[in-house]
Amino acid sequence: MCSARRFASASSPGYWIPGNVLRVTSSLDPPGRVLIPKDRIAARVRELGERIKLDYEGRSLVLLVVLKGSFVFASDLAREIDLPLSVEFLGVQSYGDSTDSSGVVRITLDLGRSIEGEDVLIVEDIVDTGLTSRYILDQITARKARTVKLCSLLHKPARTVAPVQIDYLGFTVEDVFIVGYGLDVGQRYRNLPDLHVLE
Ligand code: IMP
Ligand code: MG
Repeated sequence: MCSARRFASASSPGYWIPGNVLRVTSSLDPPGRVLIPKDRIAARVRELGERIKLDYEGRSLVLLVVLKGSFVFASDLAREIDLPLSVEFLGVQSYGDSTDSSGVVRITLDLGRSIEGEDVLIVEDIVDTGLTSRYILDQITARKARTVKLCSLLHKPARTVAPVQIDYLGFTVEDVFIVGYGLDVGQRYRNLPDLHVLE
């Protein structure tokens, strides 16, 4: 039997084994219970892709991937949308501590080209207070896209500060902090295949 005791801190997650220090720095070290398993996510992503395909039939689409949180969701979603599409990335960072957003948003990576006159679908990981999505919607609308819609994997309605219309939604969740499938806490856990509650 391994007598490893779990310890974790922001700077040194890992395991302590008496007489030895084994640092398990993998972010696959599960943070808490699975909220939504990968099979359910995949099924929902497939449904969203089919609906998007039907709604945009005959048009081409710009998938605007909001970094970093939506990179996993967007890469799965893109492969479920059977339409001509291009992918653009927008990097944003909302100021605040690791589990709370302040609503003050900074663009860390801007679009590489004009989206004027195009049908743009913004892909978000989660709409929490809604402040980040509100800011991005305003930015993209100001750049004269032909249409702008929002797709989000998750929505936490209990936390709404700025209401936004989510045109395509994966799952509604309770007021818990979620990691995995692209979502992080302090940049960790993005590579977990399932969505977990941080406990
Ligand atoms: P907002 O509060 O809707 O502006 O959300 C801002 C950002 O906070 C989201 O895009 C996520 O990156 C992050 N965020 C909010 N809730 C969670 C969560 O439960 N897990 C991980 N990140 C979150
Ligand atoms: Mg984040």
